[in-house]
Amino acid sequence: MPRTVVLGLGLLTAVAFVPQVRGADIALGEQVFKKCERCHTVDAGGAQAEGPNLHGIFGRKAGTAPGWQFSDAMKASNVVWNRQNMDEYLAKPKEFMPDGTMNFPGLRKPEERQAVIDYLEQATK
Ligand code: HEC
Repeated sequence: MPRTVVLGLGLLTAVAFVPQVRGADIALGEQVFKKCERCHTVDAGGAQAEGPNLHGIFGRKAGTAPGWQFSDAMKASNVVWNRQNMDEYLAKPKEFMPDGTMNFPGLRKPEERQAVIDYLEQATK
């Protein structure tokens, strides 16, 4: 096969493959989010029964979502949510925020945390 064809095919494969992987992650993330749904909603103005609404969470200072009574620890944390610190929080909420009030043991599997973060990045926009 001529070189250009091989290169072209390679590129095509790469382009076709990347969105698929992300798609799979988001589907997994949606599934993982079922563990959070009892307490969290993602839509603008969504219900807040056992936890704060997560709409617009990325780039927002922790503990500032309107209409939710956050722990003093969360409000004083100076955390601005991004993929990295959310990954740490979701791994071990009580270690990341010892006096926080999120009653959730954490997600042990890194791939589940990445997937739920992928999902949240889209769903909370
Ligand atoms: C039992 C209820 C409950 C479950 C289950 C739960 N959370 Fe929470 N979550 C809370 C509460 C309550 C807070 C506020 C904690 C505080 O003020 O210290 C919180 C806070 C958060 C915050 C910070 C919100 C902000 O505006 O600063 C994020 C992000 C979050 N949770 C994500 C998740 C994800 C993702 C899951 C599932 C993997 C999850 N939570 C599972 C109750 C829950």
